Amino acid sequence: MTTPQKITLTVNGTTHEAQVEPRTTLADLLRGELALTGTHVGCEHGVCGACTVLLEGRAVRSCLTLAVQVDGANLTTVEGLEQDGELHPIQQAFVEEHGLQCGFCTPGFLMTVHELLRESPDPSEDEIRDALGGQLCRCTGYQSILRSVRLAATKLRNAHVAGTPQHS
Ligand code: FES
Ligand code: FES
Repeated sequence: MTTPQKITLTVNGTTHEAQVEPRTTLADLLRGELALTGTHVGCEHGVCGACTVLLEGRAVRSCLTLAVQVDGANLTTVEGLEQDGELHPIQQAFVEEHGLQCGFCTPGFLMTVHELLRESPDPSEDEIRDALGGQLCRCTGYQSILRSVRLAATKLRNAHVAGTPQHS
């Protein structure tokens, strides 16, 4: 019998308190307790990347992260990308370049691309492929995703040049 532990975390700018079992994963906390079901769970063992979220700005697999590990942390999930009803430029790029079909993998891709483009605003082809190497998609054949990432990078750079950095 394990004792639930109280944790506090901030997700997409909102602070939550939760009672979690020591074995509760971050993915289960987000989806089950906080009703943030945009984070998808596929393999549940770190292979597919569908569950990727940002933990202090770094992309992590929420199926491999325990809820108790994020006590006091700041997280961003796919729900936190759009602002005031406007899609994030990365989301918009995926729409325009058809970077999704069923959409199951998409939240993980978006969060991974978010980290990539923050660190490397004009990534090379190799950098993009390397960053996406841990994200699996059963539908698209990846070419449209690669085009989406290139367009997202262009959109974010243009917004920055125009002095209106969006949704950083
Ligand atoms: S569900 Fe976490 S990596 Fe697949
Ligand atoms: S769009 Fe269906 S798994 Fe990627």
